[in-house]
Amino acid sequence: MSTISIIGSGGMAAAIGGLAAKAGFGAQEIAKAAPADAEVIKAFNTHFSHVLAAGPVEGHPLDVFIAGDDAQAKARVSAFIESLGLRPMDTGPLLMARTLEHACLLSLGLIAHSVKHTHFSIGVSLLG
Ligand SMILES: NC(=O)c1ccc[n+]([C@@H]2O[C@H](COP(=O)([O-])OP(=O)(O)OC[C@H]3O[C@@H](n4cnc5c(N)ncnc54)[C@H](OP(=O)(O)O)[C@@H]3O)[C@@H](O)[C@H]2O)c1
Repeated sequence: MSTISIIGSGGMAAAIGGLAAKAGFGAQEIAKAAPADAEVIKAFNTHFSHVLAAGPVEGHPLDVFIAGDDAQAKARVSAFIESLGLRPMDTGPLLMARTLEHACLLSLGLIAHSVKHTHFSIGVSLLG
């Protein structure tokens, strides 16, 4: 099984680390500085940490949007996401990371103007 390194112990680290521990990945470790040739995959930023920590509600998969340039690295991250009981959704190259960042603004707009709380997730409804 892969080793998952998580930097810090903040809200997102605790949420993802908690899911990873439940899925059998074991203790978290503080990552050493990534090597210069490390592949970068953007993931997990479109959910509130408490939503991730709670995990998917039955019948409502939690979609984790990912972006990156390396297909193998994306496949590994996707497999990790699936092992946590979440659903990976590939959005394309790393350039899409800036689009995923805007999901935060979308969430804030929903909180302020329609949903009025933070217990929701942004995801994809597959209609066929
Ligand atoms: N919370 C959410 O719901 C949410 C949702 C989507 C995206 N995000 C994003 O996820 C990231 C983490 O958010 P969070 O809520 O988990 O924040 P957090 O609870 O404030 O935790 C931040 C963590 O990062 C560490 N850290 C800060 N600066 C560092 C540095 N220079 N080198 C190494 N570690 C450093 C902190 O360590 P120390 O405590 O030792 O300073 C802490 O463990 C942010 O970029 C945030 O925008 C958060």
